[in-house]
Amino acid sequence: MDIKEIIDKEPSGEQLEVKGWVRTFRSNRFVALNDGSTAKNLQVVIDFEKEEEALLKRITTGACIRFTGKLVESQGAGQKVELIAEEIEVLGDANAEEYPLQPKKHSLEFLREIAHLRPRTQTFGAVFRLRHALQFSIHKYFNDNGFYQVHTPIITGSDAEGAGEMFRVSTLDPKNPPMTDEGNVNWKEDFFGKETNLTVSGQLEAELFALGLGKVYTFGPTFRAENSNTTRHLAEFWMIEPEVAFNDLFDNMELAEDLLKYCIRYVMEHCADDLKLLADRQAQEEKQLPQDKRSMPLMEKLEFVVNNEFQRCSYTEAIDILKNSKPNKKKKFNYIIEEWGADLQSEHERYLVEKHFGKPVILYDYPASIKAFYMRLNDDGKTVRAMDILFPGIGEMVGGSQREERYDILKQKINDFGIDEEELSWYLDTRKFGTCVHSGFGLGFERFMNFITGLGNIRDVIPFPRFPKNAEF
Ligand code: 4AD
Ligand code: MG
Repeated sequence: MDIKEIIDKEPSGEQLEVKGWVRTFRSNRFVALNDGSTAKNLQVVIDFEKEEEALLKRITTGACIRFTGKLVESQGAGQKVELIAEEIEVLGDANAEEYPLQPKKHSLEFLREIAHLRPRTQTFGAVFRLRHALQFSIHKYFNDNGFYQVHTPIITGSDAEGAGEMFRVSTLDPKNPPMTDEGNVNWKEDFFGKETNLTVSGQLEAELFALGLGKVYTFGPTFRAENSNTTRHLAEFWMIEPEVAFNDLFDNMELAEDLLKYCIRYVMEHCADDLKLLADRQAQEEKQLPQDKRSMPLMEKLEFVVNNEFQRCSYTEAIDILKNSKPNKKKKFNYIIEEWGADLQSEHERYLVEKHFGKPVILYDYPASIKAFYMRLNDDGKTVRAMDILFPGIGEMVGGSQREERYDILKQKINDFGIDEEELSWYLDTRKFGTCVHSGFGLGFERFMNFITGLGNIRDVIPFPRFPKNAEF
């Protein structure tokens, strides 16, 4: 029986079997046993006078053990029930001299080095149970709201973002590739008969489906070969991309805000123990800091976000705010905002969200020159119907837009961006046949996880992070 179920039972003297891993073993008597089903441990009480010394020695942190015994009222504080051990079987020993996880506080950096063992820790148990619940809440939200999930391809022949940050997929021999007469690699002889890469976004394919099924979403791995060694970037991350026919940019904002709030509420309701553990962890970590340097307590922060409307602010308004801000005037920003058209750096986004508005902000109507080719051009001819949602402590969590639905303008844009029109003929076809206003966005799943768990590094919220010079496990 799962420990999650056992700890809520009444102390009836019932006979039970339980299997799990030892967290701690105190006074040769009390085992804190965890099986991953919950953040809480089951206390197992051993009568050491009855057991062999050799067996007791094998009850070490990390060992996997099967116990049978009676469930009784706990004598100690902190738990309702405990198991009085009758049979003890060590299923897997964990030599205390070698096992890297000991009952003390390990740093997240250290645990990242042993990512194969970190699911055994309290913190990562909580993180990965939350990750499951959060992805479930996303599917539930869409399902309950009439969306269909589309499995878009992982191997593609296009660069959806036009940013050129792709991982090549090829079966050609790198030492001796076939060449063309002009002396270039002949990709026609490659596996797919053309150049292919891992997808950077499922958006373009999702659009094709939205213009047939109405409301769709993708939820899959995406890959970016950007050389960003930061706490917010991964080379492999998971993205949620809804796409909706007939939605304009403002409907798109509403959908994103509603989804984010729904999912936060869902985990607050269903993962209270795991969130509490992470909230306590954050409070503990920040205890040494002066009051004004501490973050908002985790639960308070989540409450705050679900109970307040996200701020809508156009790019043009944001530039005015930034130009007149103290750090800009005092040249405290690394990039000083001089004029309209500047790309916003994370220091600017953070200022807007954390200092100026103090809540999540939806920035919209960006200059066309700093955004992707597929975004709907506004009547001013210089801005596009793009939106980014910025979160405190995270920065950009969502990027989306209303899509350019007019054939001629889209075709022109594709050419202006230097993209081969032939490559996107299938995409252009949707604008030729029964086109309509439609919008969508991409939500970075791990950035959402960072916000919810309060953990500061994106490498700690995905089981096995991929980043420059690292593809361990
Ligand atoms: O802003 P991005 O690049 O937008 C797109 O890919 C669009 N095609 C989405 C759409 O409209 N359907 O990425 C969307 C989100 C970002 O806001 C960020 O949260 C996340 O994906 N993201 C990353 N997360 C982790 N590591 C990276 N390297 C990321 N790059 C983007
Ligand atoms: Mg973006």
